[in-house]
Amino acid sequence: MNTLKIIVFFIFFSHINTLFSQKNNIIPTPIEQTINSGHMEIENSPEIIADFELNSAATLFKDAVKKLELAYDKQTKNRIIFSLNKKLNNEEYILKINSDEITIQSSTKNGAIHGFQSLNQLMNLNFNSGVIKLQNQVIKDSPRFKYRGMHLDVGRHMYPVDFIKKYIDGLAMLKFNNFHWHLTEDQGWRIEIEKYPELNNVGSFRDSTLIGHYTDKPWQFDKTKYGGFYTNKEIKEVVRYAEERGINVIPEIEMPGHSQAAVSSYPEFGCTGEQVGVAPLWGVFKEIYCSKNETFDFLEDIIDEVVELFPGKYIHIGGDEAPKTNWKACGNCQDVIKREGLKDEHELQSYFITRMEKYINSKGKQIIGWDEILEGGLAPNATVMSWRGISGGLEAAKMNHEVIMTPNATCYLDHYQAKDTKNEPLAIGGYTPIEEIYNYEPIPDELDESLHKYIIGAQGNVWTEYMKTSKHVEYMVFPRIFALSEVVWAKNKPSFEDFEKKVIDTYPILDKMDINYSKHLERLEE
Ligand code: ACM
Ligand code: ZN
Repeated sequence: MNTLKIIVFFIFFSHINTLFSQKNNIIPTPIEQTINSGHMEIENSPEIIADFELNSAATLFKDAVKKLELAYDKQTKNRIIFSLNKKLNNEEYILKINSDEITIQSSTKNGAIHGFQSLNQLMNLNFNSGVIKLQNQVIKDSPRFKYRGMHLDVGRHMYPVDFIKKYIDGLAMLKFNNFHWHLTEDQGWRIEIEKYPELNNVGSFRDSTLIGHYTDKPWQFDKTKYGGFYTNKEIKEVVRYAEERGINVIPEIEMPGHSQAAVSSYPEFGCTGEQVGVAPLWGVFKEIYCSKNETFDFLEDIIDEVVELFPGKYIHIGGDEAPKTNWKACGNCQDVIKREGLKDEHELQSYFITRMEKYINSKGKQIIGWDEILEGGLAPNATVMSWRGISGGLEAAKMNHEVIMTPNATCYLDHYQAKDTKNEPLAIGGYTPIEEIYNYEPIPDELDESLHKYIIGAQGNVWTEYMKTSKHVEYMVFPRIFALSEVVWAKNKPSFEDFEKKVIDTYPILDKMDINYSKHLERLEE
């Protein structure tokens, strides 16, 4: 080979190299990804062929391609086929990219959506000057856990519907399948209830909000009215939007505690009957629901409206942090303890939750409760969300109840993500860096293998006392949510160092989504 030929050869191959330096990262990591030779170029909208059941995924694909603004505006010879393969498990998918054809096989709509999400990450990472260049490959993938959740507290601060949708987009991208919408709090009632308008007229607004951190004394308040609520129409829109992206929405209606906003709207359903205000402060409050029959009628009416709005299997009824002060001093509550032969107020809480569970089960739904619902006896069909560490989860699993792990040390995204908090926005406290979440294992070592099946998954919680804006929520959630997605989806997670590189490579996607993510990983790299 003479020199010229060698140079031409070299130029040719270096050109190929830059052309074909595809990024094949997908988060969360698929089970199997086989890179083949050849590639596919997409310069304009591929033809889309989809089995009827998989139309949602096809629509998402069409919208995603439109967003990328391809070079040409007419159809190519390329095509994408969404096809049913009933041999695959629920949520499983096979994605094949093969020069001029992409196929996504799945047995369900949600499987097809996951296939689309993987493809969409590849499309976005490999889009340049109006052209998508994808490496030929085959991906076979399915989730490790059937419950993959993210929560958002809209009681302490609330966010526009457009942000709720954006949050859902983020969840969908990372293959989460449950959005836990924490809709009622001491500081605000955020869901429209037609039968009880005062919940919205009174309970959705507070007169004032604490300035700074709870531990800053003396407390100062902004003396500014704050609040709002999501109308039935908006809730239906969010539920539909989530459903089209393979995400179930779980409403949380807190009881018997964290109900000061409701008690301020209808003081007759508290123990004292006294008018209290919607809480301007964070914390745990003694104004909880009274256990008399009238309160159950009220809560059952609310549940009647809630089940009409949320088609999913679960209603979360809270159960956490309910001080028993008022119950101890309340004649009505003490009468219920006597009438039902209960030992104490903990058993009264169990009675409360079990009675509501029975009603909710009669509507064809299951309850989820925070791990305090174990105290005084667990309601027979309840799923337990273990947040005060893992002991509640262990106990519930041993009682053959389903468990969702959300231990606060690793799954609370309201904690600081950096040690040096001076340069961070104000947070509640704690320190939960991305690496800690990445290394979290939802199945506790001490749980007998025969009981592993009761741990149905894990969830990240986003309590928003200190998150006044949606940009702040984004900062707390991204990119830590990437780590949690690996925990709940991936069966073979890469090393943390490899994961870190993948996340940094994925930042351009977050930029395109206009997400205000934290840059701690980049700083670690420096
Ligand atoms: C909780 O963090 N109170 C569930
Ligand atoms: Zn009472």
